[in-house]
Amino acid sequence: MENNTKIVTLERHINEMERQHPGASGHFSNILRDLSLAIKIIWREVSKAGLVNILGAAGTQNVSGDLVKKLDVFADETIYKAMDHGGHLCAMASEEHESIIEIPDQYPKGKYVLLYDPLDGSGNIDANVSIGTIFSIYRRISQNGKGTIDDLLQPGYKQIAAGYVVFGSSTMLVYTSGDGVHGFTLDPSIGEFLLSHENIKMPKRGKIYSVNEGNYKWWGTGVKKYIKYLQEEDKASSRPYSGRYIGSLVADFHRTLLYGGIYLYPGDSRNQNGKLRLMYENNPLAYICEQAGGRAINGEKRILDVFPTELHQRTPLFIGSEEDVNDCERFLKEP
Ligand code: AHG
Ligand code: MN
Ligand code: MN
Repeated sequence: MENNTKIVTLERHINEMERQHPGASGHFSNILRDLSLAIKIIWREVSKAGLVNILGAAGTQNVSGDLVKKLDVFADETIYKAMDHGGHLCAMASEEHESIIEIPDQYPKGKYVLLYDPLDGSGNIDANVSIGTIFSIYRRISQNGKGTIDDLLQPGYKQIAAGYVVFGSSTMLVYTSGDGVHGFTLDPSIGEFLLSHENIKMPKRGKIYSVNEGNYKWWGTGVKKYIKYLQEEDKASSRPYSGRYIGSLVADFHRTLLYGGIYLYPGDSRNQNGKLRLMYENNPLAYICEQAGGRAINGEKRILDVFPTELHQRTPLFIGSEEDVNDCERFLKEP
């Protein structure tokens, strides 16, 4: 046969990756299998969002004070229900919950914890703009029984896997478990994620910057100067860069991963730590970014080296192509 292209489902890919690591317990493939079921259920609801009367605010606020949309609640509950009884997790945490989510008494407790942002970019739902789900997995620290807050509050470098799904023109799942970054596209006709982007590498430099420029007035001098620098003309260094900002972190990051460049959510004079959450957004994307050859910093240090003190902690984020983040860091550190 002429065509040598392999058809690799997400499940087969994870199994094959685990086989390369003798001693792998198989827990991870089961976690991802359960999670991909939740993702497909969320996708089903997200893609018919315009058809049924599910859009609109549920009238409550999440713990970060943002307005919760019904699809956030649905996505949050779906992930919880898919993950609570598999016996692989000992606790979870979600952007939509104030504190630790326990595994119910009747189910076995496993060796891992899962943290997730069930629906990222939810402000964009009504405009049919891409949104996503972000997840992060750690091995527990405590020995057994119910998981504790310390199992959840680990620095990002301890992640054993992280990933996201972008519900866009097609639905893609991108993950790493420390062996590179792999992307799968959902084939809705068969309900399977198929390997479409093997071993993704981020370009060393890009030509795009992505930031909410409406916050310009409140930025520090370093960020202002850096953005002005990117806007100046200098053909030798591909400047001016193009500006692109979707307003869904997952979608903005996904473009940055594939095309290169930089995404920034800096702190400013109103919010010193910016808006994005370390445990649910910055750590998983930083892990993926580094695995693809990029860099992610908070302005002072590597995102993955930040020691968390609370579940909903925010940090500034500068993430993307290695050389672009290096340039940005220079501006931030200028006196
Ligand atoms: P979430 O929908 O999970 O609350 O996250 C929203 C985040 C992120 O997706 C996005 O990049 C950012 O908020 C946009 O914030 P601004 O509107 O301040 O630019
Ligand atoms: Mn989010
Ligand atoms: Mn969210």
